Amino acid sequence: REQRIKRQFEALEQANAFFQQQLRHAPQRDRAVNYLKQRGLSGQIAAAFGIGYAPPGWDNLLTHFNDVENATELLEQAGMVIHNEEKQSHYDRFRDRIMFPIRDVRGRVLGFGGRVLGDDKPKYLNSPETPTFHKGRELYGLYEARKHSNHLDRLLIVEGYMDVVSLAQHGIHWSVATLGTATTAQHLERLFKLVPEVIFCFDGDQAGRTAALRALHTTLPVIKDGQEARFLFLPDGEDPDTLVRQEGETAFSERVSQALPLSEFFFKSLTEDADLSSMDGRARFSNTALPLIQAMQPGLLKQMMMDRICEITGLSMEQLGSVIDLHQVTHT
Ligand code: CTP
Ligand code: MN
Ligand code: MN
Ligand code: MN
Ligand code: MN
Repeated sequence: REQRIKRQFEALEQANAFFQQQLRHAPQRDRAVNYLKQRGLSGQIAAAFGIGYAPPGWDNLLTHFNDVENATELLEQAGMVIHNEEKQSHYDRFRDRIMFPIRDVRGRVLGFGGRVLGDDKPKYLNSPETPTFHKGRELYGLYEARKHSNHLDRLLIVEGYMDVVSLAQHGIHWSVATLGTATTAQHLERLFKLVPEVIFCFDGDQAGRTAALRALHTTLPVIKDGQEARFLFLPDGEDPDTLVRQEGETAFSERVSQALPLSEFFFKSLTEDADLSSMDGRARFSNTALPLIQAMQPGLLKQMMMDRICEITGLSMEQLGSVIDLHQVTHT
């Protein structure tokens, strides 16, 4: 098994080298290079992230691996080749796509995200989960961010590959992206081991706002005093890539410095459609907020958020505790 995994990593590294080489030498390279240029990326940044190109065709990668023993099986296990049961044949998963290698913190290629050059669907195709590639654990750009600086003090969590690369192009080398999945507790544990502050910065659309709320709910039970989570909301229709391209590093950094602290986002989002001018509204709000605060790690932030509920309800902590079992508040 060890041996098999080692060979799989070697195959992924070799595939990565092939895609990067194709960006320079494939007959269709101009389209790929122009695409990257048109998105504002320099050759230097593309190289720093190991961006490559999988040319059109069903067997470019397979053919490139001709000399490798059991290549088909190896590539299939690595998620690079798909088995067509009906035709009893194999074909390349990634065809005519810009390739973003996804590395673990040690720099090993675990898989790829592949983007179409036009408007075809799906826009992004990702490597499947394999025994060595878990999307709920890995973060795109983490290896590159750490390579750029060994003194990271915060990390920006964004949605997409292009957001990470484009931010780096504009001098912001401290962002990472989840791999088309929600932010997990595992992601957060990993991040907080590296930096004391994370800033969520999702797209300025409904999906992005929903993702921020989900991230809030994932962060609440894991965050500890000494760690900070903040939330940055972008103007409608923008994502970190489009925004940093438009307004540049300074203006974008200014937004980052004004991101909402977790506690503020918490009370803002929960009070948005609550009527705190009536007792009934305050009771209902508190009934929703209390169990979420109860689930937090013990500490100062938790205590201060509890105090805030006391202020809103006008009840003391003892009164709150005597009316409702703080460990079993019902969720409405
Ligand atoms: N994603 C995916 N599969 C898709 C669409 C999106 O895996 N069909 C993931 C990708 O990781 C993508 C991220 O979700 O980077 C964010 O999606 P979206 O905002 O739609 O794409 P962008 O990253 O903004 O893509 P681009 O700027 O290249 O159009
Ligand atoms: Mn097979
Ligand atoms: Mn989006
Ligand atoms: Mn985008
Ligand atoms: Mn986007």
